[in-house]
Amino acid sequence: MRPADLIRFKQKGRTIIVLTAWDSISASIVEKAGADVVLVGDSLAMVALGHETTLPVTVDQMLHHAQAVGRGFTSAIKDQPLIVCDLPFLSYQCGEDKAVAAAGSLLKDSCAAAVKLEGAELETISVIKRLVRMGIPVMGHLGLTPQSVHQIGYRRQAQDLRSQEKLKEDAFQLEKAGCFAVVIEHVMGDLVSHLRHKLSIPLIGIGAGNDCDGQVRVTADLLGLTKEQPPFSKALIEGHSICVDSLKDWIQRQRFQEESPTKESIPEKPDC
Ligand code: KIV
Repeated sequence: MRPADLIRFKQKGRTIIVLTAWDSISASIVEKAGADVVLVGDSLAMVALGHETTLPVTVDQMLHHAQAVGRGFTSAIKDQPLIVCDLPFLSYQCGEDKAVAAAGSLLKDSCAAAVKLEGAELETISVIKRLVRMGIPVMGHLGLTPQSVHQIGYRRQAQDLRSQEKLKEDAFQLEKAGCFAVVIEHVMGDLVSHLRHKLSIPLIGIGAGNDCDGQVRVTADLLGLTKEQPPFSKALIEGHSICVDSLKDWIQRQRFQEESPTKESIPEKPDC
């Protein structure tokens, strides 16, 4: 899968599925499930590293996780999902050279073939243009941008006319700068469908309704594994309790076996 394939999918009206992964196991699960794109999102700071926000994760840590994700795929290279890796906080806010070095190292030393970054401020647009000129495909991210949590919180974005106009303008700027797709997070209403129809690049939503060219989700949220479930991303299963209960059950059976004098008294389930 290549970035240009996603633009073809939009033209054909095929829904694009983007799922996050943070290690080899999660990568093999989302690959087998059929994701088009696997995002090594900086949400792994919270999902896999236990941080309160996405801010602390570094480029080296993102690289480490992106490498593990690449090793988790099992299909032939031509059939593998596209890996997009997030540029973490402070890797692209401190100048274009630093951003090229960070993005370049992710593409050079892992199987990631594109990067994602947040926002569309003047400086960010310049960074995107430079990355694209250097041959690094870029996915944009607007609406709720978690790297700005200390400024905007985790609330729904673009709720008034002025911020809706700004978000529209930002999306067009991202397209003009050369992004191959844009994530739109926690934004609702006509604005989303308007953007979807006006942009020639795919609009990938999370908490943005169904009128998008694709959907992105944090896999740990979908599987019910995260500590705090975002209101716009419902769990498909109670993954955390399923895992805890299964392990508890196994531990109980091991203890029972320890205490029981004979093998015959071990309860019904086979040994794992
Ligand atoms: O880091 C991440 O997982 C993301 C998604 C929420 C889009 O950016």
